[in-house]
Amino acid sequence: MTRRSLSIVLAAGEGSRMRSSKAKVLHEVAGLPLVLHAVSAARRAGSERIAVVVGRDAEPVSKLVEASGAGISCFVQAERLGTAHAVLSARDAIREGWDDVLVLFGDTPLVRADTLDRARRHLADGAAICVVGFQTSQPTGYGRLVMSGDELVAIREEKDASDAERRIELCNAGVMAIAGEHALALLEAVGNRNAKGEYYLTDIVALARERGLSVRVSEAPFDDVLGVNTRVELAAVEAVFQARRRTELMLAGVTLVAPETVFVSYDTQIAPDVVIEPHVVMGPGVRIAAGSVIHAFSHLEGANVGEGASIGPYARLRPGTTVGANAKVGNFVETKSADIGAGAKVSHLTYLGDAEIGERTNIGAGTITCNYDGYNKYRTVIGADAFVGSNSSLVAPVRIGDGAYVGSGSVVTADVPGGALALGRARQVNKDDRGRIINERNAARKAESRK
Ligand code: UD1
Ligand code: CA
Repeated sequence: MTRRSLSIVLAAGEGSRMRSSKAKVLHEVAGLPLVLHAVSAARRAGSERIAVVVGRDAEPVSKLVEASGAGISCFVQAERLGTAHAVLSARDAIREGWDDVLVLFGDTPLVRADTLDRARRHLADGAAICVVGFQTSQPTGYGRLVMSGDELVAIREEKDASDAERRIELCNAGVMAIAGEHALALLEAVGNRNAKGEYYLTDIVALARERGLSVRVSEAPFDDVLGVNTRVELAAVEAVFQARRRTELMLAGVTLVAPETVFVSYDTQIAPDVVIEPHVVMGPGVRIAAGSVIHAFSHLEGANVGEGASIGPYARLRPGTTVGANAKVGNFVETKSADIGAGAKVSHLTYLGDAEIGERTNIGAGTITCNYDGYNKYRTVIGADAFVGSNSSLVAPVRIGDGAYVGSGSVVTADVPGGALALGRARQVNKDDRGRIINERNAARKAESRK
């Protein structure tokens, strides 16, 4: 499509039904704030300019939105006088002149790019407006689409609708495409003589018809245009998002043993032939390469897992973790800012923070990097082919060279040269016969106390 478009995302609302100390559009679905879902839909639809209308929490919302990419700017709607008024807050952006002006709601995060494409195609075919509609047997609360053949005659808001109109089951999803040449004139003609005393965006439909312009409807599945007003709907939208992504992942070659128990983020990338066992949660910033297995009950966030690696069960990979090819991170292991080399093994009960582990190195059970002194964090660097015995504390900053061997139970406070054996613990002493004497004494005491 060669038509140039502006997208306007309305995100000024209070969101009072969320009962939250922060604006509704800052609440997240799959780890991404609602408003950024709408922005990303606008981007995928090819809009070169995006205007976000902000109101409640204008500052944090603007910051977030403006950091999300180029070609985006925020407009403040100081008073909340309705959706047409909100769109007009971005008047300066509309004035720049566009073939298509798309309006999206910041609280409607699942809109697909092809829904926006289809709406824009109606404009290319000569319509002045295309409204995205959906069918529902429970239309209460939505604007009803009053049709005459293929033409949309008006949108009637619930409070202003007649009984007959209230029975209409084709509703306004809130997404609209408006021909740029008509947008300003139509929006500026909107008045507020209605039940709510608001400037309704939906009134531009009847205004366009009065001017002899064509208005079309493009239908979308209900799931694609689900809006978030309460936390119940937030959870419903999350469920739809997760279900969609799981299906996409499986069709792309990822095995999800129990898909409904695996949770991904908006940006999770998983290569084909990865197996994800039940109950795995992935926060933002996770990438998993081909052939890896993520065993049950693992939690990953900001982690990069190499080819053929094995993670978990019960592993926690925190931000800044890189796991090399064929490496193993086993049960009850926590990692943070840790670079684990190819073929390395960290099999049990370990904490690796601010650490670098060389290729093929083995980290024994219960090893802890002591990376924090209460004020600052320090790095632990371990070379290749090294062996760290179980239950060792590595007090950072510390370096352990290639091929070094740390005896188990060591507290390592000084660097270990490559190839060296480090024993950071008291030497063992054996006292002849002493064990037997202690055992006999203890047995006698127990017998005495039973009398
Ligand atoms: C709106 C539509 C209705 C549609 C429904 C779909 C209008 C008049 N009605 O109703 O036809 O079926 O959405 O969910 O458009 N907003 C602002 N500033 C304002 C008013 C609203 O930014 O002054 C934003 C809100 O933050 C929200 C969106 O616009 O993202 C929709 O506003 P809302 O009040 O929720 O409209 P509905 O009554 O749901
Ligand atoms: Ca709404």
